[in-house]
Amino acid sequence: MSASALRVALLGAGTVGREVARAFESFPDRLSVDGGPRLVLVGIAVRDLDRARRSGLPAELLTDAPAHLVAGPETDVVVEVMGGDEPARTLIAAALAAGKPVVTANKHVIAHHGAELEAVARASRTALRFEAAVGGGIPILGVLVADLAANRVSRVRGIVNGSTNLVLSKMASDGRAYADVLAEAQAAGYLEADPSADVEGVDAANKLAILIRLAFGVWVDPGAIVRRPSTVGGAALGSAARGGAATGQPGISGVTAVDIAAAAALGSAIKLVADARRLDDGRIAASVLPTMVPLADPLGRTDGVTNRIEIRGEPIGGVAVSGPGAGGGATSSAILGDLLAVARGAGSTWAGLAPAGAAAEGVLVGPPDEAADRGWFAILPGAPPAAVAALPGVQLAAVAGGTVVHAPRLAFAAAQAMLRELGAPPDLAILPVDEPMPRR
Ligand SMILES: NC(=O)c1ccc[n+]([C@@H]2O[C@H](COP(=O)([O-])OP(=O)(O)OC[C@H]3O[C@@H](n4cnc5c(N)ncnc54)[C@H](OP(=O)(O)O)[C@@H]3O)[C@@H](O)[C@H]2O)c1
Repeated sequence: MSASALRVALLGAGTVGREVARAFESFPDRLSVDGGPRLVLVGIAVRDLDRARRSGLPAELLTDAPAHLVAGPETDVVVEVMGGDEPARTLIAAALAAGKPVVTANKHVIAHHGAELEAVARASRTALRFEAAVGGGIPILGVLVADLAANRVSRVRGIVNGSTNLVLSKMASDGRAYADVLAEAQAAGYLEADPSADVEGVDAANKLAILIRLAFGVWVDPGAIVRRPSTVGGAALGSAARGGAATGQPGISGVTAVDIAAAAALGSAIKLVADARRLDDGRIAASVLPTMVPLADPLGRTDGVTNRIEIRGEPIGGVAVSGPGAGGGATSSAILGDLLAVARGAGSTWAGLAPAGAAAEGVLVGPPDEAADRGWFAILPGAPPAAVAALPGVQLAAVAGGTVVHAPRLAFAAAQAMLRELGAPPDLAILPVDEPMPRR
């Protein structure tokens, strides 16, 4: 590493990479640390060189050989913003093994290969930083690891996917159907042509797995995080033996305009909530589920592409960070902040935390179906059955398309039994409700 310059290789120049490259041209004076090196861009790897040249990227820096750029003697630090699994994973591991710090926005690679990459980074004493992988421009990982370092974190909860939050917000504000709003969001570039990673909660589960690593000290399998609500005929989600077959549709893909209107009638919104809690026995209860959240709660009022992530811990109580969870400019802010942290010698994103490996079998469980702050929400087809009025505490409201049933602070099994008794069909989804907690 040169004493006066930290030479940066950029892998990828799409939505995020383009903005990182632009920063080197627009405000190079900000890209240095007092008494330390200044950042200098020495190469940009893309697949399509012609398109990159046409888009105005400096032709002399472009290459279509990312592995050579990583290995080259002119590279001190690597920024990976290509996305996807391979070759990103191999390139990150190669850079770390060669002692070259890596900054990445790639939540898929960090969530799926975090344990392996952490081991490589620790073995070579090389920094791996990934602030941009969670919440785009929102500085949540640094807050969690450094500023809240003295806390015992008990819960992380948030809206971590802006595109799905935009779809849910538009469904609520415009009273439109899911498919209709989804198509519009795709046309406007908020969702990929194949939107499944966003709408099925895969992207949010990746981000939650990264938050779990930093909050609770283990790498969990993001693929094992519950993304489907249970159904009237399904098993409780928190039980070890949750049934896969009888559960609802993943992420927001099963949320209907009727669900949204019914929640609004109860003063609430449906949000895709990523939630992880440390249980008393050391296990971690985690899920990414469409959840009814009261509008009185700031999470319920977090609309559009905005993300909001809340941390509960002792002694702080609660703290929340919200802001732009995606977009090239916002995400480049996190990338550049991480590059400057490398220039300061700040180490990896997990610096100061004990090493973490993959979680042991059974550590990750589904959401706490019996928790005191949990309620349940379902839409029964048809008019309200007379019998329901007799159930204490259960809220009922007739909505176009059925009857909304809200069972606050009830164990899942009891809510499920009640719905069965009311003749609800086995495939009817039962959504969790984040009930307001009494202030302590
Ligand atoms: N977009 C956001 O708002 C956002 C926010 C937070 C995190 N992220 C993460 O940031 C990463 C990048 O996202 P993005 O939206 O910027 O992606 P993108 O627009 O699709 O850009 C990807 C870039 O990587 C290049 N690339 C892909 N595979 C390559 C390969 N094998 N060899 C060389 N170059 C390759 C592409 O080159 P060509 O164009 O030539 O194919 C393109 O320049 C992803 O991990 C994403 O999850 C994105």
